[in-house]
Amino acid sequence: MNYENTEKLGLKPFELLLNQDRIGRRITELGRQITSDYSKETPVLVGVLKGCVVFLADLIRHIKLPLELEFVSAASYRRDSRREGQIVYGGAVAIPLEGRHVLIVEGVVDSGRTVSMILAEINKMKPASVEIVTLIDKPICHRSRLDIKYRGFSLGNEFVIGYGLDNTQKYRNLPFVGRLIEPK
Ligand code: IMP
Ligand code: MG
Repeated sequence: MNYENTEKLGLKPFELLLNQDRIGRRITELGRQITSDYSKETPVLVGVLKGCVVFLADLIRHIKLPLELEFVSAASYRRDSRREGQIVYGGAVAIPLEGRHVLIVEGVVDSGRTVSMILAEINKMKPASVEIVTLIDKPICHRSRLDIKYRGFSLGNEFVIGYGLDNTQKYRNLPFVGRLIEPK
């Protein structure tokens, strides 16, 4: 499936990878699983901006528990820098997480460096537990061992967009997950 006018809009063409129904069904399942695993708790969901937003908004409506919501922001490189590994991070310092059950919510985990860094920051705050939730995981891309308890979908090494995920800040509003079609 292709959106029409992508080129006129200055967007690269893309194709459908995961449709809305499939994503919706999977998020419902994740919500049920989290509801059951945390049945006696009031978890704190810490969303990693900006890629988490669409997924998180859906997920919380399928968690039938009292919960709290916080956000951190992270980017794996700066706009003005090509150096990978430069993770720009902000936000968690003011959040009181001591003794709380924390779920870090990501849109996509690739090398795992971003979420590992956030995990390390959150662990400094002595939470009762921390788990990772991601809509998309790319296990073959992880650069170190990473325990991801809740994942929507596992993909290979491909760049995906939509459902909150961007390429140069665009495509986040697509209601499905797509794959950019690279020019041959
Ligand atoms: P990691 O630190 O390599 O796991 O990369 C995670 C970050 O890179 C994500 O939070 C995204 O901002 C970005 N990223 C990695 N893969 C993709 C992708 O396929 N689509 C969109 N953004 C991605
Ligand atoms: Mg990005």
